[in-house]
Amino acid sequence: MKLSSYDLDPETKINWKVFSLIAPFLVEHRIRIGFALICLVASKGASVSAPFVLKHIIDDLSEGGVSDLVLIPLSLILIYGFARFSMILLGEIRDTIFGRVTERAMRKIGLKVFKHLHNLDLEFHLERRTGGLSRDIERGINGISFLMRFFVFNIVPTLLEILLVAGLLFYNYGAPFAVIILLAVMAYISFSLATTDWRTQFVRQTARADSKANTICVESLLNYETVKYFSNEDYEANRYDNSLERWESAKRKDRLSLLGLNSGQALIIAIAMVLLMWLAAERVQDETMTIGDFVLVNAFMVQLFMPLNFLGFVYREIKGWSANIENMFALLAVEPKLDLNTNASDLELARGVVSFNCVSFSYNKNRPILREINFSMMPGQQTAIVGASGVGKSTLIKLLFRFYDPDSGRILIDNQDIKKVNINSLRRVVGIVPQDAVLFNDTILENIRYGCPDASEKDVSQAIDLAHLKDFIESLPEGLGTIVGERGLKLSGGEKQRVTIARTILKNPTIIIFDEATSSLDSKSESMISAALRDISKNRTCIVIAHRLSTIVNADKILVLKDGLVSENGTHSQLLALKGHYHELWKIQARQ
Ligand SMILES: Nc1ncnc2c1ncn2[C@@H]1O[C@H](COP(=O)(O)OP(=O)(O)O)[C@@H](O)[C@H]1O
Ligand SMILES: [Mg+2]
Repeated sequence: MKLSSYDLDPETKINWKVFSLIAPFLVEHRIRIGFALICLVASKGASVSAPFVLKHIIDDLSEGGVSDLVLIPLSLILIYGFARFSMILLGEIRDTIFGRVTERAMRKIGLKVFKHLHNLDLEFHLERRTGGLSRDIERGINGISFLMRFFVFNIVPTLLEILLVAGLLFYNYGAPFAVIILLAVMAYISFSLATTDWRTQFVRQTARADSKANTICVESLLNYETVKYFSNEDYEANRYDNSLERWESAKRKDRLSLLGLNSGQALIIAIAMVLLMWLAAERVQDETMTIGDFVLVNAFMVQLFMPLNFLGFVYREIKGWSANIENMFALLAVEPKLDLNTNASDLELARGVVSFNCVSFSYNKNRPILREINFSMMPGQQTAIVGASGVGKSTLIKLLFRFYDPDSGRILIDNQDIKKVNINSLRRVVGIVPQDAVLFNDTILENIRYGCPDASEKDVSQAIDLAHLKDFIESLPEGLGTIVGERGLKLSGGEKQRVTIARTILKNPTIIIFDEATSSLDSKSESMISAALRDISKNRTCIVIAHRLSTIVNADKILVLKDGLVSENGTHSQLLALKGHYHELWKIQARQ
């Protein structure tokens, strides 16, 4: 709950727009909502009728002279009980019906945001990758639930009841009673809202301090090993205690301001109560009102102000949650920068010839990474890309996979500009074993199967063989069922790479790319994998990015990237004969 007020500026206003954002997701439930509204009105009807029944019971009892002394109050008492019961029952029915509507809306909106996020660019995700997105979604969705609950189950019924009661009092006893009640309610509401706005800063400080303390605690425990390396337990404890101290003092202000709010509210109620009862008492003395009427007025007061008790809290929550919902809908408003062409025609794959025509690219205008790169890669061949770290090798791959579009120039597959074809058809035929492989926290089997969820068992074991994973898996007590840990952290770098290789082999793409996929392997496994890569690349266009030149000496073509250009290209022996950059790199590595 405290999450909600955390980001809240005291100046924030309730954002009414969120209702119009949510509304489209509710229309499909028109009938349910209508029924819930009927229950709402009926429940309030029962609720305001109860005090009237009470009045008659009391009047009957106090008159005393009635002949059916036992019979009349008894039937009235039964009616009274029934009214109380149906008020609660109808309220519960309304909540149940409406809860279903809310949950469906939450599900639909959540799914919509999730799909939308998957459609956004890599760039967007690289900038936002701090768990912030999932928090936005979670808060937004919970916000819908809270908003609906407070509004439909709290604010609207209470307002309805206030109007009903004021109307009935006016009708039965004249203006003074209705006016006092309405004035009291208005005073109560304005006081609560104003005080709540003022208090929000303390609530916010408390939440900030709380989250700060939490962060310190989590960070410190996450860095358990580092803390021990430097024997900094006391330092950490101090830091934690300092933040707890801030939390404690913020909490004190929070509590004191709550005291102010609650006592102010109580004072307003008490004044209204005194006025009303005084007025009623006088009329009882004049005999223009009965004792029953007196009790009725009193019962209404209690009944009305009870739900208003939470008004300050509800008001702040609604402000907070409406801001959260707005944040979530703001995500939906982010447009992907890349045109995904999901309606364009599919890539028509012939043999898988890849060519880069004058491709220039920069992540940041001031720092060009690739300048007018030209080359092609042929099917059935292995093309290697080498060059210093940071020269832009992985960037080439990201362009081919359309995580980004080139600033100028075109990338063609079988003579079709990849920018113009349906992106899904492009990504189906390109398989990448990425440089920094990440796995799902699931079993090895599921991670490999991710490459092609409906692959047969035979295909899976073939992929495992090709990736030289078999011995490793057999050495595990739980074999393929071994859980790999978060992001695959329970596997060594080399094991993880081989799992991702198997996963990509299973996908069976026509164009297959290994981005330094063997960099964490020892020389023996590396040469085995390199042999496997040759097998795999027989009928495909195979691109190998390698740091260690020894792994690509047999490639059909080697492109040497330098300063954003292909500075040299040819086979290993041709390049050595050139005595250029490649020759230099080769000499340096040979020496090591
Ligand atoms: N998303 C990004 N935003 C900005 N700069 C990036 C991004 N990704 C990579 N770079 C920069 O682009 C350059 C090329 O990166 P990369 O293609 O990964 O090099 P490598 O040849 O080692 O694979 C590097 O200097 C890197 O810092
Ligand atoms: Mg790289």
